[in-house]
Amino acid sequence: MEVIRAKSAGFCFGVKRAVDTVYEEAEKRPGTAIYTYGPIIHNEEVVKDLREKGVRVIQSEEELEELTEGLVIIRSHGVPERLCRKLEEKGIEYVDATCPFVKRIHKIVQAESAAGSRIVIIGNPSHPEVEGIRGWAGKDVDVIQTAEEAEAFQAEPGRKICIVAQTTFNYNKFKDLVEIILEKGYYISVLNTICNATRERQSEAARIAERVDAMIVIGDKNSSNTQKLFEICRNVCNNTYYIQTLGDLDTNQLRSVETVGITAGASTPNNIIEEVQNNVRINF
Ligand code: F3S
Repeated sequence: MEVIRAKSAGFCFGVKRAVDTVYEEAEKRPGTAIYTYGPIIHNEEVVKDLREKGVRVIQSEEELEELTEGLVIIRSHGVPERLCRKLEEKGIEYVDATCPFVKRIHKIVQAESAAGSRIVIIGNPSHPEVEGIRGWAGKDVDVIQTAEEAEAFQAEPGRKICIVAQTTFNYNKFKDLVEIILEKGYYISVLNTICNATRERQSEAARIAERVDAMIVIGDKNSSNTQKLFEICRNVCNNTYYIQTLGDLDTNQLRSVETVGITAGASTPNNIIEEVQNNVRINF
């Protein structure tokens, strides 16, 4: 059996950097209470493994408020500025593992807002990354996710508007929403801050799925980017299987196929991908 593994399968640069940071800190500082603000990635296996190493998850700002000591690690999504200030006020050390591509957006909206612009974030308002960006964008900030919201958008005449995007937002949808806002005739600067990692992972997965007999997509059941990958692959390959770990793989399904493709969501650790890859290679 031929096994084709997508090069872009699994962690993107920013997620890998954040996960590595937590493991490194846990190793460097035995005995220190280490927390991540929100789960470091949406993967139960990794969060469980880290818990065994003493790393706990802070779920809310209220929980953070109660903290009196320890080290807090900020995940790749980033956090609003006020959270960094709060940690500083409390004298709690933190390591900022915000993805540099997200940090760049924080800097843009902070500078643009200081220069008087009104900020528009094209993204999902309840996504932590967007909440974080919002928290660096000053008071005048709008989050737009739908065409209706873009139609309804209004700003003061003559006010400069700066548009940025959530890094994982769909590019075509971003273009459409920007188009609607541009038609309103405001003085607008548009910064496409979408990260290519997601798009590359999706297009590579589709290319592989087109040429194999079966496709395996590995990722946490709650990971929305893995679900999306699964849909993309299933559109071009009927034999597409969504598994969380090797244990979910139904061995009968691969009996009569000659080529298998493997990809994985942004929150799937390499060891899980490798385990599946090796097993498929050896046993079929
Ligand atoms: Fe960063 Fe792009 Fe990943 S913004 S966290 S490298 S999807």
